[in-house]
Amino acid sequence: MKTADVRADIPLLDEVIYMDAASTTPTPKPVVEAMCDYYYHYNVNTGRGAYKLAVKATQKLDEVRKKVAGFVNADFSEIIFTKNTTEAINMVAHGLKLKKGDKIVASNMEHHSNLVPWLNLKKRGVEVEIVKTDSNGVLDPSDIEKAVDGNTKLLTVTHISNSIGSVQPVEELGKIAEDNGSLYLVDVAQSMGHMKLDFKGLNADFITSPGHKGLLGPVGTGFLCCTPELQEQMEPINLGGGTVDEVGEDDFKLTEVPYRFEGGTQNISGLIGLGAAVDYVKRIGTKKIEKHGRKITKMLYNEINDLEGTEVYGSPENIYGIVSFNIDGMNPHDLAKILDETRNICVRSGHHCAMPAMKHMGTYEVGGTVRASLHYYNTKDEVGTLGETIEKISSFWRDK
Ligand SMILES: Cc1ncc(COP(=O)(O)O)c(C=O)c1O
Repeated sequence: MKTADVRADIPLLDEVIYMDAASTTPTPKPVVEAMCDYYYHYNVNTGRGAYKLAVKATQKLDEVRKKVAGFVNADFSEIIFTKNTTEAINMVAHGLKLKKGDKIVASNMEHHSNLVPWLNLKKRGVEVEIVKTDSNGVLDPSDIEKAVDGNTKLLTVTHISNSIGSVQPVEELGKIAEDNGSLYLVDVAQSMGHMKLDFKGLNADFITSPGHKGLLGPVGTGFLCCTPELQEQMEPINLGGGTVDEVGEDDFKLTEVPYRFEGGTQNISGLIGLGAAVDYVKRIGTKKIEKHGRKITKMLYNEINDLEGTEVYGSPENIYGIVSFNIDGMNPHDLAKILDETRNICVRSGHHCAMPAMKHMGTYEVGGTVRASLHYYNTKDEVGTLGETIEKISSFWRDK
């Protein structure tokens, strides 16, 4: 599929220049249609009834789990459905039953969703060490090597920073965690769907992903990927219907993994949409998505970096999908508002739920940055339009 074919499936893209993929992506028609098909033709609960429609809906969700597992080179039972990435990370933070004296190592480029759940464990006496990245927001593996020790139960890192797009050396970090005997969680919220991701190849114990960003799936979907052996050791966060095999007045017996982590009625239509989204991304091809993403990211970086009075964060050689910038002296929210009002350009502004990262990049005090985040549907023309508009605003701002 070409970029134009994908654009034809997303009517929203005729109305605006959408550059906020790092928040969520617009949903292509085949994904919406799969959800409508559920609502029109088999809108019943899963994992419960024995009637034909209930069996069909249950089988459909199993098919989605199989598709997601195949997409990331994981096994069926390694996929736990969640409502988003945040829930997936909290499942791990809660589930590992960490105690006083245990240590977590993370980077200063984490999204709050991969930081706050760990910081919260400090209340229990768990130590959290935050390793600083370089001036481009990239980790030096030797700094991680120094930080991990005998108490380090888990190393966690975002694959791609959601605030500036810097890419971390996740394979190398996985080896460090393995050598140290620590678990390893990679938050792939900004890379999933944009490039080939291989759960087994990454050497990670956990990957946490949204369905609603790079995968072009609906909001309210995400997943945690981890081995059944680890799941057996974890405590589920959300107990109730669907998580048990036997219940008495005094006790209960958990059901098999991964179902014991999926309490209550699932986001069935959303997950059906997620399955269709995986098919859709596969039809485009992750190689093609990544190639296009690399090209337009670099193009946008250069367009803005070449202008007088602008600052772009991160290194053009080591960012993907996200270009984070400021016009000197201008509030990022004002700039984002002007882009929207004048050219219908949708970009995010602010601290991007990554305050420590913004502090590290020296942009916290000015209100953060403007962040343009891209996907396969974005064109060179759109990148050019954003560049030209920034040039006009910047020169007006300087002359005022
Ligand atoms: C790197 C990263 N991790 C976690 C999250 C949280 O994702 P979700 O909104 O799916 O919970 C985001 C969202 O932007 C993100 O970019």
